[in-house]
Amino acid sequence: MTKLLVVATGNPGKLREMQAYLENSGWELTLKPEELEIEETGKTFAANACLKASQIAKATGNWAIADDSGLQVDALNGAPGVYSARYATTDSERIARVLRELGNEVNRQAQFVCAVAIARPDGVIVLESEGICRGEILHAPRGDSGFGYDPIFYIQELQLTFAQMTRELKGSISHRGKAFAALLPQLERVKSLERRD
Ligand code: IMP
Repeated sequence: MTKLLVVATGNPGKLREMQAYLENSGWELTLKPEELEIEETGKTFAANACLKASQIAKATGNWAIADDSGLQVDALNGAPGVYSARYATTDSERIARVLRELGNEVNRQAQFVCAVAIARPDGVIVLESEGICRGEILHAPRGDSGFGYDPIFYIQELQLTFAQMTRELKGSISHRGKAFAALLPQLERVKSLERRD
C-alpha cells in the first residue's frame, strides 16, 4: 500500500528533488495546499524543519515531510545560516553580500547544512536527519548550474564549485543528498508505525 506524504513546500522543484531521493520508498509525495504558509521562526535548521513538518501534518491530517537548509560561513560566525534564503533579494545579491562581508578574510571555510523532519498526522515528529557538506567560499562565482550559493561553494577535492557539477555529482556529496541517504533506512521504521495508526 502506498502512503501519502505531504511535502511542506509550495515549490514543485523541491517536490521533484525529494521524489528522486525517496523513489521506491513506498511513499507517494504531494505538495502542501497553497494557502498553508508556515513562517520559519526557528533558530536552527532542525527547528525549522520540525516546525514545518509538524504544522503541515496537523493542518492536513496526513504524514508530512519538511526540510530546511542553508549556508554557514565559519568566519562570519555561521551566517547567513537560517537566514540564507532571506539574506538579500536575489541569488546574485545574496552571493554579493556574502563575498562583501567576507572581504579578504583568509579563512574561507564554510558548510551547507540540510535538516529533514517527518511528522505523523497528529504533528508529532517521528524522524529527523541532518546532512553537512564542508567546502570553501571562492572570491568570485564560478559555474552556472544549480541555484543559490552554488557558484561560490568550492569543493577542494574535486576542484569544482557546486555550480560546476552535474546534478548527480552534487547530489552524491551534498548536504541534502546526505540527509536523505541517512533518512531512507529509517523510513522502514516509520512505515511500521504508520501501519499501527
Ligand atoms: P530553504 O531550505 O528552502 O529554506 O532554502 C534555504 C536557502 O539556502 C536557499 O534559498 C539557498 O539560498 C540556500 N541553499 C540551500 N541549499 C543550497 C544548495 O544546495 N545550493 C545553494 N544554495 C543552497
